[in-house]
Amino acid sequence: MKDDSEVGGSLTLDPCDWAEFRAVAHAAVDAATDRIRTLRDGPVWRPMPDDVRAAFTGPAPVGPQPLREVFEQVATQVIPYAMGNQHPRFWAWYMGAGDLTGALADFLAAVDGSNLGGGDTAANLVDQQVTRWIRELMGFPESASAALVSGGSMANIIGLTAARNASAGIDLRKDGVAQMEQPLAFYASDQVHSCHHKAMNLLGLGARALRHIPTDENFRMDVRALEDAIEADRRSGTKLACVIATAGSTNSGSVDDLGAIADLCRREGIWMHVDGCIGALIAIAPRNAHLVAGMERADSLALDLHKWLHAPFDVGCVLIRDRALHRGTFAENAEYLQRATRGLAAGEFLHDYTLETTRGFRALKVWMMLKHHGVETFGRLIDQNIAQARYLTDLIEADPSLELIAPTATSVVCFRFNPGGLSEEGLRGLNTELLLRLQESGLSVPSETTLRGRYCLRAAFCNHRTRLSDVEDLAAAVGRLGRELSH
Ligand SMILES: Cc1ncc(COP(=O)(O)O)c(C=O)c1O
Repeated sequence: MKDDSEVGGSLTLDPCDWAEFRAVAHAAVDAATDRIRTLRDGPVWRPMPDDVRAAFTGPAPVGPQPLREVFEQVATQVIPYAMGNQHPRFWAWYMGAGDLTGALADFLAAVDGSNLGGGDTAANLVDQQVTRWIRELMGFPESASAALVSGGSMANIIGLTAARNASAGIDLRKDGVAQMEQPLAFYASDQVHSCHHKAMNLLGLGARALRHIPTDENFRMDVRALEDAIEADRRSGTKLACVIATAGSTNSGSVDDLGAIADLCRREGIWMHVDGCIGALIAIAPRNAHLVAGMERADSLALDLHKWLHAPFDVGCVLIRDRALHRGTFAENAEYLQRATRGLAAGEFLHDYTLETTRGFRALKVWMMLKHHGVETFGRLIDQNIAQARYLTDLIEADPSLELIAPTATSVVCFRFNPGGLSEEGLRGLNTELLLRLQESGLSVPSETTLRGRYCLRAAFCNHRTRLSDVEDLAAAVGRLGRELSH
């Protein structure tokens, strides 16, 4: 029998000192728990000093370093300079605030180590149970399929790929887009998220295939204009592929008229896709679920579980009403990935429903978080965020130096400091500086956008740690900084 030393030794990545690993791991859990417990006391975000930046410029380490030292670097040079989205006063862009149960789950998922591409594992069953729960919560039928993916962009791309293949009129997988006799038209409002432009690019259709339908004064798709665009395309011999409705636009949180769009799509025989990355989960919020009624009638739905479910990044989900079509869009039959009736390969091959072959165990964080907190808690938290957005709207409307830039439909508030007498350019300059000072002070972190040419601050409430006093502090800080800057 050969000895390990004859083939280069018994090298492994496992700890040589198991007790030391355990001690470092316990220290990491202690540090993580303390960090989240005391978050509110620190700044939301802080600029990085030069010596911290310099710490990330060295070459790849050739030799080993004790784990304790590496952990110390993470604790002192990485985590203190995080994005800040875990902090109660972070309201930038649109992202969840994270959760310790989810973080623990990510660790346990890594220790489980399963590849969720396929295989008869408990992890596979966890994934399938999670997608079944989501399907039920979103009001989709049991026959619909679902897949957990990296996030909303990927969920949208998968939904739109199925829509493209369903409406192309040829076998796209075999023949490709060049063989299509008619061009395809997709429709979305002028508020649609930029990931749909990436999708058009990736699907080989080009940006022009996506018609941008104007929105009304509430930033909702103008359904009459949609009908007109569809009619014009029909007359010119274009194939009507898909309407992308938005449930919660990134700019202002507006929700398209999902019921009217569903009626139109049914009448015209067009695929209805809903980008519900922001708003789909409102369906579980008792006081606001009516805002997304009609979403359950879609052919496909994209949602983000790392937003209002606060699962650590990253995890999104796509639902597709026609399971066979979904599978037919992505499934492959490689000789090295054959299904079996017994043994490890007997489980469902989940990679048949996505672009990825290897898939991480993203499902565990969602599964553990839903079990630990319960769906009802998440629904109430969403209601709480929407109420906070309305409260900020009230504060803005009561202060003559603050100007609301869009109606608050859900949880996004668009506003600015406006002392009067300034041009649009002047207001942009003033509010840009105000935003930077707010962020750099560590007080709070909203972000910015421009709506119909008007620059504004944008506070997106997707944070389970925010309190009403934080909202009051934001309105007060914007007023104070605005006055300082305009004197
Ligand atoms: C409406 C909408 N769609 C899609 C996305 C993209 O989602 P992700 O960042 O998870 O890829 C976002 C991101 O905020 C969004 O707001």
